[in-house]
Amino acid sequence: MKKVFMDHASTTKVDDEVLDAMLPYFSKYFGNPSSIHLFGREAHDAVDLSRRKVADLLNAKEDEIIFTAGGTEADNIAIKGVAYKHKEKRGSKGPHIITSEIEHPAVLQTCKHLEEEGFEVTYVPVDEYGIVKLDELETALSENTFLITIMFANNEIGTIEPMEEIGKIAKENNILFHTDAVQAIGKTPIDVKKLHIDLLALSSHKMYGPKGVGALYVRKGVQLKPIVHGGGHEKGLRSSTLNVPGIIGLGKACELAKERMQKDMKYLRSLRDKLIKNVLQIEESYLNGHPEKRLVNNAHFRFVGVEGEAMLLAMDAKGIATSTGSACSSKKLQASHVLAAIGFDPEYAHGSIRLSIGRETTEEDVMYVCESLSEVVEKLRQMSPLWNR
Ligand SMILES: Cc1ncc(COP(=O)(O)O)c(C=O)c1O
Repeated sequence: MKKVFMDHASTTKVDDEVLDAMLPYFSKYFGNPSSIHLFGREAHDAVDLSRRKVADLLNAKEDEIIFTAGGTEADNIAIKGVAYKHKEKRGSKGPHIITSEIEHPAVLQTCKHLEEEGFEVTYVPVDEYGIVKLDELETALSENTFLITIMFANNEIGTIEPMEEIGKIAKENNILFHTDAVQAIGKTPIDVKKLHIDLLALSSHKMYGPKGVGALYVRKGVQLKPIVHGGGHEKGLRSSTLNVPGIIGLGKACELAKERMQKDMKYLRSLRDKLIKNVLQIEESYLNGHPEKRLVNNAHFRFVGVEGEAMLLAMDAKGIATSTGSACSSKKLQASHVLAAIGFDPEYAHGSIRLSIGRETTEEDVMYVCESLSEVVEKLRQMSPLWNR
């Protein structure tokens, strides 16, 4: 059976060049980068080179990069780190964070946790395309606001948020700006200096690197209180022996992303547009998210009268991997909080499916997916009580 992976927003295949770069660091150069002998120094030098490659992709400096165990951990270290530091300096008088309603659970749950600890959090709404309402963000600002955390691009509907405007608002009001760039990294150019971003979380497995490794950009001068205590690695912000092969893989993935950015974006955009054009030929099908301000690899649709999970299973039977929500939450049968935030009622939300393409997706894959989806939707509608044309 033909197999097509249309779920690159959940994870990606490790690039062959990334794997080749990693392999020697499992057995040949296995030293602990904290050791001062030759074995340690070899690992340490390689980690430093990776740090530079991650920094280069963001227009940051290498001493502004902390390696983590993934995107979730990077978000936690950033948000809790800023929050606890703020509380230490200013006491506990109504400290306030602004975020959005459509964040990934890595940010939403961290904010909910901080609410339980006495922090105030405003969840700013989004418009029908998933774009954060900037007027409401500005209205939410108070003298107690110390952090704005808004994702760079949404993991479900692919909408890219107005980073430049949010960065400007944060800077003008002397508030720290954190962004979860896990989905955006490698798919759109990111310049942390130009966008006034103080903290940025990224994850390697969404950009053709290995799982279980990520990074946090911390602008020079931003102070965080550590939430992981131990031997003091990564400037005391993420204690634990470094995952050297993973870090080498992330560095290589960043180097490739930088080299290939324009080529990848052009290729993915043209495939994505072909996918969207063909899928929208299906009667009563609609594109979710913003038509232009969206990730080059994301297409998210809703189909009237069809149930998303049934679509996913029927597509799976044809060898096609898709998703009805973010991979992390798609096993729960709750309607997505993102689709609820853009105004979908549960019936609409449950009739949605995400197709996300990647470097290895071909035009032939796209056409196979479009034909299969058309058949699946038609068949499911024949059985659907919600479809009575
Ligand atoms: C926007 C976003 N943030 C954070 C994460 C979590 O990243 P990780 O799997 O590396 O912890 C994901 C993963 O799906 C994501 O899409």
